[in-house]
Amino acid sequence: MTLGAAAILLCGLAAGQKEQKPAELQLTNDGKMLRPANYREWVWLSSGIGMSYQPGASASEHPVFDNVFASPSAYRVFAATGKWPSGTVLVLEIRASQSNASINKSGHFQGDLEGIEVHVKDDRIPGGWGFYGFGKDKSSATLIPKTASCYSCHEQHGAVDTTFVQFYPTLLEVARAKNVLRANY
Ligand code: HEC
Repeated sequence: MTLGAAAILLCGLAAGQKEQKPAELQLTNDGKMLRPANYREWVWLSSGIGMSYQPGASASEHPVFDNVFASPSAYRVFAATGKWPSGTVLVLEIRASQSNASINKSGHFQGDLEGIEVHVKDDRIPGGWGFYGFGKDKSSATLIPKTASCYSCHEQHGAVDTTFVQFYPTLLEVARAKNVLRANY
């Protein structure tokens, strides 16, 4: 191999390595989080439709969809251990539902993006976990204050470490096998 070819190969390797280390979680020095750009390429955990948490809430004509995605490196750790590592990013994407378009006559399909909310585990966040709301197109967000209902509902009802694994079927199997489900979720 010529020196030139070796240099090209090395450059290729270096670039490849850089790509393999995805910047899933980007926190800035002033405490903001940057919108996770490629979350649609992450691991899909589940979708909910018209989920409501109030007793007696009536079903909507246009129930919103939510899609939940996990950052790939965190997903792999959870699948192996039943625990979320520092650096975990979980995205809740909310989409409008539509019906009666094209050949669709009943049921609902997913429409426009309404917003994304993010749940992050990181040692730099007081208490370990933080929530961020990015709406439809905000490129950065500040930490949602710890007094918000996000924290209390997730702490009280999330089956594993403040996350709603009870609604993510493949992770629920992992959590059962690793015996990490909390009681009374
Ligand atoms: C009354 C309970 C409740 C409150 C309040 C709540 N959530 Fe959640 N959250 C849920 C449930 C249930 C799910 C599971 C959704 C599913 O199965 O599709 C969830 C899932 C999520 C997820 C996906 C990752 C995870 O932790 O399981 C994110 C991100 C999230 N919520 C963000 C927020 C934010 C931000 C707020 C506050 C603005 C909030 N939530 C308030 C009940 C709640």
